[in-house]
Parts: sequence; C-alpha cells; structure tokens
Amino acid sequence: MSQRPDRLLIRGGRPLRGAVAVSGSKNAALYALAAGLLTAEPVSVRNVPEIADVDEMGELLAALGARVRCTDGVVCIEAAEIATTSAPVDLVLALRASFLVMGPLLARAGEAACASPGGDVIGARPIDVHLAGFRALGATVSRRGADWVASAPRLRGARVFLDYPSVLGTVNVMFAAALAEGTTTIINAAAEPEVAMVAEMLGAMGARINGHGGNTLTVEGVPRLHGCDFTVIPDRLEAGTLLLAGAATGGDVRVTNAVPGHLDSLCAKLGEMGVTIERSEEGGVRAASRGRLEPMQAQAVPYPGFPTDLHAPLAAALTQAGGVSIIHERVYDNRTLYVGELRKLGARITVGGQSVIVEGATPLVGAAVRALDIRAGAACVIAGLAAEGETQVHGTSHLDRGYAHLEAQLRALGADVERG
Ligand code: EPU
Repeated sequence: MSQRPDRLLIRGGRPLRGAVAVSGSKNAALYALAAGLLTAEPVSVRNVPEIADVDEMGELLAALGARVRCTDGVVCIEAAEIATTSAPVDLVLALRASFLVMGPLLARAGEAACASPGGDVIGARPIDVHLAGFRALGATVSRRGADWVASAPRLRGARVFLDYPSVLGTVNVMFAAALAEGTTTIINAAAEPEVAMVAEMLGAMGARINGHGGNTLTVEGVPRLHGCDFTVIPDRLEAGTLLLAGAATGGDVRVTNAVPGHLDSLCAKLGEMGVTIERSEEGGVRAASRGRLEPMQAQAVPYPGFPTDLHAPLAAALTQAGGVSIIHERVYDNRTLYVGELRKLGARITVGGQSVIVEGATPLVGAAVRALDIRAGAACVIAGLAAEGETQVHGTSHLDRGYAHLEAQLRALGADVERG
C-alpha cells in the first residue's frame, strides 16, 4: 500500500447526495485470511479491502509458513506447511485479529503460541474467552514469556460456554473445533454477520457447522479441510458510516451493495431520527433526510443490536438532531475518546459513566481534530462534513485501517474532501 498523507481536509456544510458501493468487510476479510491456515490446500479470498490490517495479516501468515499472494482484491493463501507455531510478537501487536492464528495452529499443528494482541485502545480487551474455549476442547494453556501457549495432541469436541459472545473468541473456537474429534456446541456465540460468514466459508472448506447467525453453533469436527474460493461480505460498518454521514448533512445517500439485513439496527435508529429508509431486495439501502433530525436513545450491544463500531459515527450525526440524545455503550469501557474531538468542533456532548449525552442541534464549526481510533476518526469526518468551514482530521492512518476508499466515496457523494 502506498503511503498517503496523514491528514484529511474537509470543507463541510454540503449535503451528501448520490449512490456509492462499499468495500469488502475489513473484519470479515481478516477472519477469512486466518482461516486459510486451516488447510494445506490453496484458499482464495475475494473482495478483500486494500487496508494496512490486511497487509499485516498477510505478513503474519507468511511468517508462519504460508505462501500469500495478493492481486486486485484477491488474496491467495497456501499453508502447505506450518513453519512455526509461534507468532512473531511485532505482528501480533500490530492488530487485534492476529490472535486468530491460535485456533488454526492449535488444531493443525497441536501447538500455538501468541502474545496478547494489539489493536485500538477502546477498552480492556482480554482474551480469556478464547483461552477458556481452547481449554474446553482439551488444550492446556500456559504462559511462556509474553506468549500464551496452547497445546493438545488432538482436540476433542465439547460443550463450550462463552462468558461473553466475543466475536474473535467465537471465530477462534470455531476454527479449533472444525478440526477437533467429535462435535462441539458453542453456547453464547457471537451472532455477527462476519462470524456467520466465517461459518459459511468453513462450510465451503468441508466443515460441518450449523446454527451460525444465532447464539448456539454446532461444529462437527472433520479430519481435514480443503481449499476454497470465497468472497467476503460487504462492510456493514463502512455502509453505516456513509449512511450516517448522509443523515448528518441533511443529504440522501444510497449504499448500493449493502446487505439490508445486516443494517436493521441502524435503519431502525435512522427511522427514529426522521430519516426515510428504503431497502432493496437485490441489495442496497438508501437513507434520505426529510429536514432536521429528531433526537433518540440507543445502546451499543452485540449483534443484532446497534453495533459499538457505529456508536461514535452515530454520536456525530446526533449533534445535528434537535434535542437531547443518549447513547449507552455496553461493549467497550473506553469507547468515548472521540467526545473531546467533537467538542472542538462545537458539539455539546458529555460523558456520564458509560453513557454519552448529545445536545443538538448544534451548528458545528471546522477545527483541527485527531482520529484516535478507526471509528473515532469516522466520527470526526462526519462532524467535519456537517460543520461550516474547514476541518482538518489528523492521524488518518487510523481511518485508513478501516476504510479503504473513504475520501473517494465521500467525493462521489459531493463532499469537498482531500488529503493534505
Ligand atoms: N471480551 C472479553 N473476553 C474476551 C474477549 C472479549 O471479556 O476474551 C470482551 C471485551 O472486553 C469487550 C467485548 O468482549 O468488552 C467485545 O469484544 P469482542 O471480543 O466481541 O471484540 P473483538 O472480537 O476483539 C471485533 C472487532 C471490533 C468490534 C468487535 C465487536 C476485529 C479485529 N475487531 O473485536 O472491531 O468492535 O468485534 O463487534 O474484528 C473495529 O473494527 O474498529 C473494531 C474495533
């Protein structure tokens, strides 16, 4: 990926109008790449977004012995041999999804070692759910320096209760269970569409998984998986960000390839805000403003509830709603760093415990702000688009980790946005 300037300049105050397509899901693409480690045969993953996290996941898989090739959004992984079961700590610290190599390494090679992963600082992000899952499948888990080491000559299917429906935790346990002996039932599994997509992909590789998309998954272990050619689902979080940008600017935005069913909670909330929603059965969601937004209350919870990843973008849009809105964050304990940045643009927004209170409608004025994590950065962009004058969003490397073509998409919708 070429180096891009680390600042976005936005001259706001224009309603966004038009239609755009979204990229493949960032998070789902990372899970699909990690799944490539589960088989010795080639796996092709299509519709992979061009973002730094994808490059880093590719480097991690290569460091473990896989051949990784990437052309035009298609990543081919061939893990004929596992060269080492120890994940290099620098790559592990670069991204949270790195910990997903644990399940495949443990299942295929009988051992896996990996430090606690990095990722955005949005709260305590433990990995106890993953480790408890591996133990339930018969692995022993210990510490070796900074690494967690899981080992088991042969994993055995079991009933695995997850203390929290962790997204990555569910995927890691599903990976391990796919090659275990016997049947695993994962109770309190994450139901996010990205998790269901992984189950579909594993199915295409010969796994037997049922119940995905719900909170109880059954995985019948098989001795080996084969290669596959799989296409990543559209990014519902990128779609949600663009629809909220349209609402915040009083515009009319259609995301042509969004899966409407993945955006039910957002569409419900936009409806409460007075935005007209149209869903197309062939795919696509349109959000058309009808004037000033109405205030409302939302809570960020696991799927199918309102996603924590759209909490900050929603707060930015609610600065333009006439009245008091409240967002209660129930997934992460440090998701509210963006609040101070939005205040720099004039937003009247306060934090009380895990709740964010937004008073609107506030005329925002351009300012210099910082993208503190991917979604905090998206909130700054949305607020900048709604503000009069120029907003500088610094630290766009965070944004680039989650959004492959954000400024091109915004320009296509009529925004005045450039790198500089
Ligand atoms: N949790 C535990 N124990 C665990 C794992 C998680 O207590 O072992 C708790 C966390 O502390 C947190 C909650 O569970 O309070 C949610 O964590 P989860 O494990 O579900 O999140 P994740 O799998 O680490 C993925 C995405 C996040 C997204 C969440 C929730 C990736 C790389 N990350 O994280 O995406 O917010 O699911 O949907 O896929 C982003 O894209 O900006 C992002 C942060």
